Amino acid sequence: MKRDFLTLLDFSPAELETLIEQAIALKRVRHTHRPLVGRTLAMIFEKSSTRTRVSFEAGMAQLGGHALFLSPRDTQLGRGEPVEDTARVLGRMVDIVMIRNDDQQALEQFAAACDVPVINGLSDRYHPCQLLADVQTLVEHFGSISGRTVAWIGDGNNVCNSFALAARQFGFQLRVACPEGFDPDADVLAQCGDAVELMRDPEQAAEGADAIVTDVWASMGQESEQAQRMAAFAAYQVDDALMAKAADHAVFLHCLPAHRGEEVTASVIDGPQSLVWAEAENRLHAQKALLCFLLQ
Ligand code: CP
Ligand code: NVA
Repeated sequence: MKRDFLTLLDFSPAELETLIEQAIALKRVRHTHRPLVGRTLAMIFEKSSTRTRVSFEAGMAQLGGHALFLSPRDTQLGRGEPVEDTARVLGRMVDIVMIRNDDQQALEQFAAACDVPVINGLSDRYHPCQLLADVQTLVEHFGSISGRTVAWIGDGNNVCNSFALAARQFGFQLRVACPEGFDPDADVLAQCGDAVELMRDPEQAAEGADAIVTDVWASMGQESEQAQRMAAFAAYQVDDALMAKAADHAVFLHCLPAHRGEEVTASVIDGPQSLVWAEAENRLHAQKALLCFLLQ
């Protein structure tokens, strides 16, 4: 039976641990491990991307396979061909599909109609591939993530939802500090139980934390809410004072792209506690591990 990776709950905690170990191992053999010769990944991007596109495309090339970039602008998807029809056809031509869209439900419909594995490359609800890279980065830095405390500061968005599921699956504590009206999805929180704690005060969330994480205040598709969101999140900037509340050894993560002077100051993201470049690089290694897992 084919497997999909649409949320972090699609894999067991043991499988996720193995993926992270594989990702760390693959980092050491970047160009010499080629198990996917002749395999093709189709990547459907309904939204912009730098990291996700390049990491999947470079990753497939390094593994010996090929990646194909598909935009709705120049495929029949953009002209109204049903998602399921596209899924059936792609499933007969390629070995695996990645989709970035604004509709988790459409992603699930696509996966149900497609005979090959489907990967969520970011949706309105989740960004599970980002969390593989983030967990890899924390494991590389701390040795283990189990029992650690991570503070998410800002918008309870798609990346935050995936952070919550990661806390449940990898056994760490997530404190989410966001203004009222910007909480992570209630059904996600309900599935995470004690692993996730919701609060309003960023300082309370940051207190003694091992890692501080944030993301943009207006995600792709929310550009018209920019001004309103800037006002709502004004007290949620990650700056040096907030980092000082965390543990001395605390690190800073951000999935990127970042807006310096909004959700994070330049002094933090470009400072000594920031792991954002390793985090971005790990998208490549973590997704290579994911591709191998789903295709082998
Ligand atoms: N973090 C991330 O997914 O970046 P891109 O939007 O550039 O793919
Ligand atoms: N929350 C952001 C993440 C971008 C990688 C967005 O959805 O635009």
